[in-house]
Amino acid sequence: MGYDRSVSAPEHAQAPETVWELEMPDIRFGRDAVEELDFQFEDLGVDPGARGLIVTDETLVSLGHAERVCEQLGEFEVDVYDDVEREPSLEAVDDCISFIRDEQGEAGYDFYVGLGGGSCIDTAKAARVVIANGGEVLDYIAEPTGNGEPVTDSGAPLVLMPTTAGTGAEISPVAILSVEEKEIKEAISSDHVRADVAVLDPTLTTTLPPEQTAKTAMDALGHAIEGYTTHSYDSLLRAEDPASRPVYAGRTPVTEMFSEKAIELLSSNVRRAVHNGDDLEARENMLQGALMGAISGLTAGASLCHAMAYPVGNRYHTYHGETIAVLTPASTLGYNAASDPERFAELARMFGVDTTGLNTREAADRLKDEYIQLQRDLNVLPSGLAELADVDEGDIDWLASQTVETQERLLRCNPRPVTKEDAEAVFRDALYNWE
Ligand SMILES: [Fe+2]
Repeated sequence: MGYDRSVSAPEHAQAPETVWELEMPDIRFGRDAVEELDFQFEDLGVDPGARGLIVTDETLVSLGHAERVCEQLGEFEVDVYDDVEREPSLEAVDDCISFIRDEQGEAGYDFYVGLGGGSCIDTAKAARVVIANGGEVLDYIAEPTGNGEPVTDSGAPLVLMPTTAGTGAEISPVAILSVEEKEIKEAISSDHVRADVAVLDPTLTTTLPPEQTAKTAMDALGHAIEGYTTHSYDSLLRAEDPASRPVYAGRTPVTEMFSEKAIELLSSNVRRAVHNGDDLEARENMLQGALMGAISGLTAGASLCHAMAYPVGNRYHTYHGETIAVLTPASTLGYNAASDPERFAELARMFGVDTTGLNTREAADRLKDEYIQLQRDLNVLPSGLAELADVDEGDIDWLASQTVETQERLLRCNPRPVTKEDAEAVFRDALYNWE
């Protein structure tokens, strides 16, 4: 970047950012890591005989995963809450909170485990901080939907165990919740929401069906690719004080490193994981890739694709991962590729594209073609927005308005400015990725 690094402190507000942060829970990764769960809670200072709660859903109970986790917590008392709903609403989280208060009073449990996909993990994160801070979930949602009260306490220890490889919810500082009457998503967002530990065990992911495997993989790939192609942190303005530095603060050399490895792992293992779910090596590589993609995308920041995905998901209740899959070619790999063809040519190489003899523009175009080919090979993903949710020309105006008006936190890191007309053109391009 061509700027003067000697800018003095009082001029921060008008100076480029010079500082980046990387905040993470502790991470325990690997086959049968679940067997170290009792040690993990002892390490967090939880006393033997303490009482904890596993927050999960009925599917994971019926698959035996909840029982397996309980068995690893032999020296503790454990209850199971298995009523988590997909894309949890505020009411669904309040139901979990009521369960906790009925069983344990206002103080709640001594520790919590979130076991499952993003919905279980976000329910566990939200319930834990509401118990710790008092009141109900709406108190901690930003105004005008909620009361905007600050979260000041993390509460009892929380360990998150994902059973999908994709959302990154196990490391993020937000719990995303649906507000049904408004058809929007809101979040409790605070460093106190972040878990103490993420335990990632690929043996918990082999039961995930092909369709869910493909959708969550595309979300993970989206985090890695978007993280790699956001603005650089030092091309954004410096935060006026450290506390106000945004969660999505632009890419750094460290996030680029995680993106690069994530893209290699995810793109070279996703076909195996989708077509042969029992392939534990592929599952392990996917879980590792998804974690690295999340470290990149959930700190550097997602971009236009995720900004477009939220209005689509709010209106049509589509799965986040398949929405990302459908939008990535037109947004990230189409519109944004023009911002820096050199960088997208690098991405193509990470994705395994043979770029011999291609110039940077041709390599970036080939990346888009091969990404679409990957989706077709997985054989479980829709061909575009039209197939995903019957979106047509008449819906584009609303979707584009929502994108530019409500997704500022994601668009500020996008490598190209986006007007409403730009967003309309990208939505139009995403109707059909293939015929
Ligand atoms: Fe995502």
